[in-house]
Amino acid sequence: NWTMNDFIDMQVDEIRQKVGEKKVILGLSGGVDSSVTATLLHKAIGDQLTAIFVDHGMLRKDEGDQVMQALNKDLGVNIIRVNAQERFLNKLKGVTDPEQKRKIIGKEFIEVFNEEAKKLKDVDFLAQGTLYTDVIESGTNTAQTIKSHHNVGGLPKDMHFELIEPLRKLFKDEVRVLGEKLGIPHDLVWRQPFPGPGLGIRVLGEVTEDKLKIVRESDAILRDEIKKAGLQEDVWQYFTVLPGIRSVGVMGDGRTYDYTIGIRAVTSIDGMTADFAKLPWDVLSKISTRIVDECDHINRVVYDITSKPPSTIEWE
Ligand code: XMP
Repeated sequence: NWTMNDFIDMQVDEIRQKVGEKKVILGLSGGVDSSVTATLLHKAIGDQLTAIFVDHGMLRKDEGDQVMQALNKDLGVNIIRVNAQERFLNKLKGVTDPEQKRKIIGKEFIEVFNEEAKKLKDVDFLAQGTLYTDVIESGTNTAQTIKSHHNVGGLPKDMHFELIEPLRKLFKDEVRVLGEKLGIPHDLVWRQPFPGPGLGIRVLGEVTEDKLKIVRESDAILRDEIKKAGLQEDVWQYFTVLPGIRSVGVMGDGRTYDYTIGIRAVTSIDGMTADFAKLPWDVLSKISTRIVDECDHINRVVYDITSKPPSTIEWE
């Protein structure tokens, strides 16, 4: 029956005892789990921790900068940011299959991380944001894989680290409370789920820089309007997708032949099943107008009104 403050004190002691004067690395994805782990480790051992933030260029608008601001500038966590967008895009060139895209992004993430890790000398420990649910799931993995959900993972084969997993006994909600106690901003800690492959699976088919930009901008508009309408807490997950189809429209005196944006917004408990969110028409209308006005090459916006099942939440 411990409180979160007791938990922090216990973990800090435990980490200090285990690590001593040695060094720890951690792969930062920009997500909640790795961010909270990094902050907890920093509290325990300061600059003996080096976090490697692999920015694959498929995060949401300004997300990478927000993570750097909150964790590095404000909280002092020692972070090496690797801007690897070009590298990821090169690997994804010509690839259209969703599972293939996931595999490539997951593998490349580990490779970039390993390369950076090798540059650091005398590291003995690897910290990971493994949660209780991850421990359970990897123990009884009998479920059929519908989509391979890659996150950070996979130990470098030629490097031998001892693992540190301070969140192993916590559920997601507890991790968020812990994050806030450690001083990570509320918005960052309570944000909606975001897949490891990021916007890479929201540009359907081949991923290009131009298409990523359209998804990133339209997603930012959607999130802005949901926030303004005070609906963040009512919707479990919301984002835009770029299906890659083009259709005819009219703008000014001219005919256009441009892309469509799909809006996905769902209510859910755990992501296993979901209903499409009944967003108010006036909010949807505002979002649609803004997306067409502010995003290049968009002349149509559609709203996804399917539930899961039979659909999935993501379109890929
Ligand atoms: P689906 O699309 O399967 O999504 O209904 C259920 C939840 O899982 C997230 N998701 C992923 N998360 N890597 C992740 O880390 C992935 O490849 C991935 N694919 C889907 C999705 O955003 C939703 O919250």
